[in-house]
Amino acid sequence: MSTSESAVPTTASPTATVEGLVDLELPGHTISRHVYGHFSEHLGRCIYGGFFVGADSEVPNEDGIRLDVVEALKALDIPNLRWPGGCFADDYHWKDGIGPRDQRPTMVNSHWGDVVEDNSFGTHEFMHLCELLGTEPYVSANVGSGTVKEASDWVQYLTRGDDSPMAALRRANGREEPWRVRFWGLGNEPWGCGGRMSAEAYGELARTFGTYSRDMGTNELYRIAAGAANADYRWTEVLMKALGRRLGGAEDPGFGNGAFQAISFHCYTVAGSWEEKGSATQFDLEQYYATVLQAQRIEEVLAGHARVMDVYDPAGEIGLVLDEWGTWFDVEPGTNPGFLFQQNSLRDALVASLHFDAFHRHADRLVMANIAQTVNVLQAMLLTDEESGALVLTPSYHVFEMNKGHHDAANLTVHLRGDLPTRTLPDVRGLGGHGPAGHGLHERGPAELTTVSVSASRKDGRALFSATNLDAEAPVTLRLALRGTTGGRPTARLLTADAPQAHNTPQRLDAVVPRDHGDGVRLEGGPGAQTLVLELPPHSFATVELPLP
Ligand code: AHR
Repeated sequence: MSTSESAVPTTASPTATVEGLVDLELPGHTISRHVYGHFSEHLGRCIYGGFFVGADSEVPNEDGIRLDVVEALKALDIPNLRWPGGCFADDYHWKDGIGPRDQRPTMVNSHWGDVVEDNSFGTHEFMHLCELLGTEPYVSANVGSGTVKEASDWVQYLTRGDDSPMAALRRANGREEPWRVRFWGLGNEPWGCGGRMSAEAYGELARTFGTYSRDMGTNELYRIAAGAANADYRWTEVLMKALGRRLGGAEDPGFGNGAFQAISFHCYTVAGSWEEKGSATQFDLEQYYATVLQAQRIEEVLAGHARVMDVYDPAGEIGLVLDEWGTWFDVEPGTNPGFLFQQNSLRDALVASLHFDAFHRHADRLVMANIAQTVNVLQAMLLTDEESGALVLTPSYHVFEMNKGHHDAANLTVHLRGDLPTRTLPDVRGLGGHGPAGHGLHERGPAELTTVSVSASRKDGRALFSATNLDAEAPVTLRLALRGTTGGRPTARLLTADAPQAHNTPQRLDAVVPRDHGDGVRLEGGPGAQTLVLELPPHSFATVELPLP
């Protein structure tokens, strides 16, 4: 249904101007660049056809790795790439993916389409990909069906430099020097595809796997325990206790401390039911608002996990990692249901911008986040067309690009005041996403969506503002009083289109691309009393760069 056809089942508050204040000289926590992280699973056409086409492909490649994909992602400065899953990680036996490609054993990818995996993309290919991208690998070890020794051997294979058996095996396979691997995942979704464990059972395993995943030489692992679904704060609490942390931060000496350094959780944006998630492009305004509302709820889920961690770790030593997030819609008609291939519209871009605003605000605890997934799966950055070979940059890609300036920048608190514009949605489901029943928030019913979201940071002599107008019909003017210092001439970029359903295709690559916002941004007032004024059309995302002295 098109926007114009749909009945709008929402009521809006009339506010057309939003006022706020930012002190440019009060930098807060550093926004880790790793919250702009990525995820690549052996799922559908993410690895095969997405990142990897094989050395014999007509698509330009380096040892099978697709070069247009590498170039597009390099432009995002992607900080890390998670691999090999997801659910696939807990079925994956890394030794099947090394050595001559034509001699590698095959396996069945039971989770994703029940297809045969030929293991032609394995450890060396992944590490080569990371080198081409200039990104840090985030490797997830198999806890669900693997052994502690297997995980321990993998760390040695990757990071050990001497003539020990695993280092010698790596050398025999053509790689002399050890790689540097920091991010090390201990399984995936152990409450579900990763083994259907209780939090307590997994906590024990995470300690054991964490202990035997050792630092080799100067390579220090940052071990990430697999965490909760959505708002399952109890899971996070159990893992904090598994680390030997007690209320108030006291530690049981010599207990779990150091077994892992971070705890993850997953939270997808699912507006429909799990069985009928809705189309990625054929949606009405009701579905549009329901989706962005679910996305906005990431704020309270982040806050919930962070609150639990604060109680057990007031010093903030343990990191929080959201290593799977993004929209999850029905697959595109005619595609394999197990391949999770969906289009990506302006709506997805706004889902991304909302998440980043929340990530920036939680910079004190959130150390990493990974969009699911980078190419051809779920909320992808890139879609590759099988027939034409074309590469499509999605609207979500552009949000990652426009927000690059927030990487490792200092968060600036944006105080919005007065009644913010809202839409009241008469009937939406509780928090979307998957996972064990009862781990959502909210009952089905009415909900209020705040339709403006803003975040800001400063780095290298300039401030960067990100602003989203979720209202599909009403424009908004943002007026931010600036304090602390005097800004120079601002420039803005705008991402929008005629309708939230707009998306890029091989036939139309630029339906949703950022454009110069020209006089959509201005500074009013003089030194000490400047106001940054930004015009936001309906369903739009903008970034503003402000030079600082
Ligand atoms: O990203 C797709 C899947 O979603 C992952 O494999 C799994 O971890 C989650 O359920």
